[in-house]
Amino acid sequence: MAELQNLAYVVVAASDLAAWRDFAANIIGLGIGDTDAGAVGLRMDGHPWRILIEPGADDDLTHAGWDLGTAGDLEDYVAALRAKGADVREESAERAAARHVTRLFSLADPIGFTHEFFTGRTGLRDDGGNLSPILRGQGFVTSDLGIGHILPVCKDYEEGVRWYRDVLGLRYSDRIRQEMAPGIYADATFFHTATGRHHSLATGAFPSAKRLNHLMLEYRDMNDVGLACDRAKKAAIPIVLELGHHPNDQMFSFYMRTPSGFGIELGHGGVVIDEATWAPQIYDVMSDWGHVRNMAMVD
Ligand SMILES: [Fe+2]
Repeated sequence: MAELQNLAYVVVAASDLAAWRDFAANIIGLGIGDTDAGAVGLRMDGHPWRILIEPGADDDLTHAGWDLGTAGDLEDYVAALRAKGADVREESAERAAARHVTRLFSLADPIGFTHEFFTGRTGLRDDGGNLSPILRGQGFVTSDLGIGHILPVCKDYEEGVRWYRDVLGLRYSDRIRQEMAPGIYADATFFHTATGRHHSLATGAFPSAKRLNHLMLEYRDMNDVGLACDRAKKAAIPIVLELGHHPNDQMFSFYMRTPSGFGIELGHGGVVIDEATWAPQIYDVMSDWGHVRNMAMVD
């Protein structure tokens, strides 16, 4: 059965591209790619870009790009989506070329951004991404596992979980349901793709001014998490959650605000799921230590 292989890219509409360029290169340590008309491409590896920052007033996630593997698998996946009644459309050759892929389809997410499904990412280079020299380690965990994860905020929790599982076809990883106050729960459900990064997408329903709660990128070297946290504090970037650790994906991480006002989690040590031994659990805390909260993820 054809299914999503990994989250290969995201597109963000941002009001301050210069701030994003500085944040990406000098706080996170990403490479800066060649830019198409007015956009900033952020690099994590040999791909021309993994995060595309386009000019726009939205300051939010606009597209999530999923690698389907082979051309045949992409066709099978699109046919399966259509059989479920999803209005999936083929994008133009020009749009596909702009995404550096050979074939591209799109589907609207219920909360207002667009999922893209592709085969054949092109323009790959062997320069490792020209990452910023501020990194201590060997860059980011990407390859078959994709760029990391996103947490879009759904409006109706049950419907959101159903849509990501039954329409997109993501695999259930686990769930966290933490009692924040008597009878008040923070609840999130986590999903993985065929290649097994603990989650490529998680969702929850809570008040949020943005579609995207946060994007997560994973360093290969644990020290780069702490070094990035130090750089962010020195630059007076708002730290949303201090260094800490999640019980489900085992990620050591911290969260800060991006120039667009949504969060970014920078982490290390995330679990890759082995389907043969994975036993989904429901956890009762979002973090087993740390992640002390200084502010809301999104205002
Ligand atoms: Fe996360």
